[in-house]
Amino acid sequence: MTSHAPRRVLLGICGGIAAYKVGYVISTLAKAGVEVRCLLTQQGQAFMPALTVATLSRHQAYTDDCFWQSDQGRPLHIALGEWAELLVIAPLSANTLGKLAYGLADNLLTNTVLASTCPVLLAPAMNTDMWQQRVVQRNWQLVMQDPRYHGVEPGSGVLACDRVGTGRMAEPDDMLMAIESRLHTGGQRDLVGQHVLISAGSTREYLDPVRFIGNPATGKMGVALALAALHRGARVTLVHGPIADTLQAHLGSVQTIGVTSAVEMHQAMIHHLPQADWVVMAAAVADVKPATQADSKLAKAELPALLPLVPVPDILTDLAQRRQPHQKLIGFAAQTGDIVSPALDKLQRKGLDAIVANPLDVADSGFGSDRNQAIIITRTGDQIAIPPCSKLSMAHQIFDAL
Ligand code: CTP
Repeated sequence: MTSHAPRRVLLGICGGIAAYKVGYVISTLAKAGVEVRCLLTQQGQAFMPALTVATLSRHQAYTDDCFWQSDQGRPLHIALGEWAELLVIAPLSANTLGKLAYGLADNLLTNTVLASTCPVLLAPAMNTDMWQQRVVQRNWQLVMQDPRYHGVEPGSGVLACDRVGTGRMAEPDDMLMAIESRLHTGGQRDLVGQHVLISAGSTREYLDPVRFIGNPATGKMGVALALAALHRGARVTLVHGPIADTLQAHLGSVQTIGVTSAVEMHQAMIHHLPQADWVVMAAAVADVKPATQADSKLAKAELPALLPLVPVPDILTDLAQRRQPHQKLIGFAAQTGDIVSPALDKLQRKGLDAIVANPLDVADSGFGSDRNQAIIITRTGDQIAIPPCSKLSMAHQIFDAL
């Protein structure tokens, strides 16, 4: 989380077997220093004991029995509604969704929703047929039209009712990222109507089917940028080198295009450039590739003692030459030692609006880490330091700055 003041998340838990997943969310937020208050509907209590929630959140859990309890003389639903910086409802049942769609308030949770003005993040979970009912979908669309509401859509899989289909609550890590984003932006969707094109990961330049020149980039920074843009309302296209399935699983409605080599990444980025308002090259692209590529595996004895290399296209330079004036172009420069001077040189040489210089030789940042730090250098010479933080937070700070 970005601010030093403790953030305040109010978590509403409805009835549904997915309630068990919420324990991890509460625990992770609390350990990160976020103040978490939980309230359970009557059906929520059937799946998640108030004692568990209170223990994980380090605070009393509220139920409908507390409705008439006052908070320093003020009605509890008013006090909780004013306290919350972000309200999360997970799992969101079909019943509570229906109440939200029509502004009904018959328990502590729904009264608190109406008595608050903060953003509300909804994580529905229900049986596939329930989720796909026309009336449930209509309620979901209705609620999503209200800018106050944000959704973490259910995924597909084997449900506890043994059905295979949509309705499974978003995974806890996806919920945590959705929460972190809304705490950062206060629920603002400042990239609505914008198309953000991002590259992520490494490229592989194959010598034969089993050997390649590559680098350790994992794609985490590019995926964080894609999610930050998505959470801010953008349409996002992510062109990525080989990345882990577990990372890819977070990408939801991001359009993804998998590539392997720098030449393929070049083609994909050029193809999508005309629709983009922002282009962020977070990929660690190879600079060279083997001069020849064998179709079948070379035997050890066939490997050359010296490997002839040829340059690959510089994608950013080419994008800069083809871009329209309204398109923003942002590069990355991962460096060891001095990070600023080489980044400044790349910014000017490649014709960028900004470059994100980040260190590779500092612990807990760079390739494969969940955290990062950087200095953003803009075309006008401004330098904005981003202290160590999660990659998602850094992604938001890049969009904030630019
Ligand atoms: N980049 C690119 N195409 C390449 C190489 C790099 O588009 N063939 C992009 C990267 O995605 C990054 C920026 O250029 O956004 C800087 O990459 P970097 O590897 O640091 O710079 P190079 O131009 O390769 O310079 P050098 O290797 O000499 O540091």
